Amino acid sequence: MTVPLSHPTSSIVQIELDQRSYDIQIGVDLLGRTETYASLPKAATALIVSNETVAPLYEAALRNALQSHYKGVHLVVLPDGEAHKDWATLNLIFDALLSHGCDRKTVLFALGGGVVGDMTGFAAASFMRGVPFVQVPTTLLAQVDSSVGGKTAINHPLGKNMVGAFYQPQKVICDLSVLKTLPPRELSAGLAEIIKYGPIADMSFLQWIEHNLDALKACEPQALSMAVRRSCEIKAHVVAQDERDLGLRAILNFGHTFGHAIEAGLGYGVWLHGEAVGCGMVMAARLSAQLGWVEESFASRLVDLIERAGLPIQGPVLDAQDNSGRYLDLMRHDKKSVDGDIQFVLIDGPGKARVSAAPQAMVRAVIDRCCA
Ligand code: NAD
Ligand code: GLY
Repeated sequence: MTVPLSHPTSSIVQIELDQRSYDIQIGVDLLGRTETYASLPKAATALIVSNETVAPLYEAALRNALQSHYKGVHLVVLPDGEAHKDWATLNLIFDALLSHGCDRKTVLFALGGGVVGDMTGFAAASFMRGVPFVQVPTTLLAQVDSSVGGKTAINHPLGKNMVGAFYQPQKVICDLSVLKTLPPRELSAGLAEIIKYGPIADMSFLQWIEHNLDALKACEPQALSMAVRRSCEIKAHVVAQDERDLGLRAILNFGHTFGHAIEAGLGYGVWLHGEAVGCGMVMAARLSAQLGWVEESFASRLVDLIERAGLPIQGPVLDAQDNSGRYLDLMRHDKKSVDGDIQFVLIDGPGKARVSAAPQAMVRAVIDRCCA
């Protein structure tokens, strides 16, 4: 891939899924513009789903723009945080839909990060057996990953994202302007999911990120636009080949097997999802090097970038007596595990990933090396 040095701040990436195909629109100041919503299905009512942090910032602008397309524009404000990605909060969306007399044509708008997006998508998949929805992602992580590809879910006390559906949105609107209010820690969490696309699919993109990391951290629109567009292109390409996550799509989970263990072991929300994925990529890269699939220098290059992005590169100690044993126990619950065999997404040469088991002693050694 040839990566342009500068990139227009506005672009459209298409996700090709036959009748479920849709556009990801990327640009600045999109959210408050009436034209942004012109091509959406016609309906009498729209429901904006947001949370108590994002709604005060952006709901008024979205509502103003939607009012020329829908007679009734309603709002439901959810509590903020991963801890609320559950049945009780999901029910608040159904309560709002029913109390406002919404029907099968009502369009739902997910205005927020991945938590709001995943829950709104699941509500849309199940309300009256399916109504249209639009993703308006407001975190970097949601713009480059969670809003694209149709995975929707809530958490169960026994596991993350365990109850959900594949359900594609009508459109994804990535307004780069909203990222200005994102706390730096959340921005770094989003950078983890951007970095992920390099080692698994596109080494030129990895090099571009290395050169443009400071611009990304400063939220420069041209850099953000390029990073969001290339991330969405790679994800769209993978999802178009494996929408239901039966094979290839697993590569998008690079760093996630270790990362989910960190999130679950510490308790959800202690580390951000992107932070756990960043540290998980360190472990997965070191494991790939141990297996001889990449040079140790390649793993170190990735670790340097993850650190420069403001992400932790040392995993937490989850058990003082048997830390690697605790990680192994937690990783056995990963959705990719087969008959209790842990499957890792590993780098099989720069720019190429594959899913594989690994010798337990080697996994333990990598955990011991990477945990503080
Ligand atoms: P999040 O939704 O919790 O948002 C992070 C924080 O930023 C929240 O406090 C939110 O209120 C706040 N926020 C959002 N936009 C803001 C803005 N513009 N300005 C200021 N504050 C803002 O977290 P996230 O990182 O966006 O998403 C993580 C979730 O996404 C997890 O539940 C994860 O499982 C899910 N996820 C899903 C997929 C998928 O394919 N569906 C992929 C990756 C992650
Ligand atoms: N975030 C991983 C996936 O969408 O499959």
